[in-house]
Amino acid sequence: MRTHFCGLVDEALIGQNVTLCGWADVARNLGGLCFIDLRDHEGIVQVVAEPAATEGNAQVLATAAQVGYEDCLRVSGLVRRRESVNPKLRSGQVEVVAQRIEVLNKAEPLPFHAHENPGEDIRLKYRYLDLRRPEMQQMMRTRIRLVQALRRWLDARGFQDIETPILTKATPEGARDFLVPARMHAGEFYALPQSPQLFKQILMMAGFDRYYQIARCFRDEALRADRQLEFTQLDMEFAWVDERIVQDTVEAMMREVFREVIGVELADPFPRLSWAEAMRRYGSDKPDLRIALELVDVAALVRDCGFKVFADAAAAAGGRVAALRIPGGARLSRKQIDDYAAHAAKFGAKGLAYVKLDDSGAVNSPIAKFFAEDAFKALLAHIGLCHGDLAFFGAGDQRSVSEFMGAVRLKAGKDFDLVEAGWRPLWVTDFPMFEWDAEAQRYVALHHPFTAPAIDDEADLRAHAASAVSRGYDMVLNGNEIGGGSIRIHRSSMQSAVFDLLGIGAEEAQLKFGFLLDALKYGAPPHGGIAFGIDRIAALMAGTDSIRDVIAFPKTTGAQCLMTGAPSPVPDAQLAEVHVCVRGEVDG
Ligand code: AMO
Ligand code: AMP
Repeated sequence: MRTHFCGLVDEALIGQNVTLCGWADVARNLGGLCFIDLRDHEGIVQVVAEPAATEGNAQVLATAAQVGYEDCLRVSGLVRRRESVNPKLRSGQVEVVAQRIEVLNKAEPLPFHAHENPGEDIRLKYRYLDLRRPEMQQMMRTRIRLVQALRRWLDARGFQDIETPILTKATPEGARDFLVPARMHAGEFYALPQSPQLFKQILMMAGFDRYYQIARCFRDEALRADRQLEFTQLDMEFAWVDERIVQDTVEAMMREVFREVIGVELADPFPRLSWAEAMRRYGSDKPDLRIALELVDVAALVRDCGFKVFADAAAAAGGRVAALRIPGGARLSRKQIDDYAAHAAKFGAKGLAYVKLDDSGAVNSPIAKFFAEDAFKALLAHIGLCHGDLAFFGAGDQRSVSEFMGAVRLKAGKDFDLVEAGWRPLWVTDFPMFEWDAEAQRYVALHHPFTAPAIDDEADLRAHAASAVSRGYDMVLNGNEIGGGSIRIHRSSMQSAVFDLLGIGAEEAQLKFGFLLDALKYGAPPHGGIAFGIDRIAALMAGTDSIRDVIAFPKTTGAQCLMTGAPSPVPDAQLAEVHVCVRGEVDG
């Protein structure tokens, strides 16, 4: 059908006849002369239909004159040097003088044009048009190159690519399950995997030693720019390892893949922060190290002040009072300060006190009145507040203060242009093993329930559950959690103890995870692994804020596919076949 790709026609082909296929990107009819930019996946070349070259063949010019946006064309013609050079294109030195133009398929008037970027809803409805845009082609290709590079690296090092089931039993990763009714077992359901976690652990027990899979995962959770209902992990597991081997291996992989795909050198080695230090300094378990601002603890300096909120938090066992100094922040208006308070409130803040020190050294602060003059001076000196700066303060329980002050830090970083260029990966380690869920009155796992505790003794773990640290680790890049993993529990008795601490009784554990508890009894080697979010890494590499830009057919934040119309109702007969009856009222 064609001899060359449009975007690859260049000076080397001058004087030759070529046949090209592509879309009419732009068509300009100048009366006796027509120009068509013909586009395929490689790029664009200019086609010209001119009377001189088509003598005796008025048909070519007549056809060219009728060409509209996105018509599918086949063009044969002669490559020649062009008059007005376009240095931006590989084909910019040449044009193709058409000797024959076939319209393979005429396009109807378009909902939007390839050079426009309309609202995302329209783009998703007509995703095939959206994906034709060169910008989208570029981003998708970055993802493709990422996956190719990962596979090459893993295949060369003996990792074995093994598929695991999609129709399976629930694997808890902290989200809701998607359920599939089982036609052959009335009233029973398969769950789609939230991750291949248990299968990959069992593969280690089954003797495969090193596994990987580019695995689709399904989680019914609230969607955001960095979250989809179904997403792709690079899932890995290693037998006979400790955390250092896993971390060093995947760190080296990431360095090589970033170098290969986008020419970026990542730090060697990645810095490490304990979870506690990350929360203390950055108010986040995925700190963006490109922003130099850090939280400062001030409890000791406000314990005796007259502001009850601060004094109480400073005295409480699990309390925290933290400050964030923003250089040049004194220029924030009252309204802008209120915006920060509103932002902090979204993350649980009950208030956001501040101190403004203007250029002349005058103090503006709703909390100054609660301090003796010396104590206030000492507080400002501890924070390092200079003329022209502002400091925000958060007080309350540790977790909440860290979280909302972390959010304030990120907002200030962006607002004050303090996000440095570059790539700042790190490991976050030593996560708490459990978190107390006050509502449910029980512990929940901070990673998943198969993560090993640092304490290797069940009785010790039970005695120190609240302060126990796990052998989990996350890889973070520029404020994004791009991967998470752990060393796993490999003894059945420890797994049972952890289930028990999580409020999963022996009977329930047997019902849900009996196969795992059994497998752990028959010679399970020490093992561990990690999973990376391919969509998130691809989005970072492609320079976009939304993983939807690197997923060919994503869902909206309303959990719908606007192109196919999924999800959609199902005929009663089909529901009956799978023994499902839809309830009258549907919960929001
Ligand atoms: P985790 O739940 O941390 O770990 O997931 C691993 C990585 O997957 C990405 N990710 C997502 N990406 C897009 N949309 C989502 N909804 C989404 N959820 C997670 C993140 C995350 O770091 N089984 C464990 C891994 C292990 O222990 O080996 C797991 O799934 O980048
Ligand atoms: P109030 O006396 O309640 O008006 O509070 C004085 C200042 O302290 C206001 O700027 C509040 O936003 C701030 N504030 C109140 N509660 C907190 C808190 N938990 N953490 C930080 N600042 C607070």
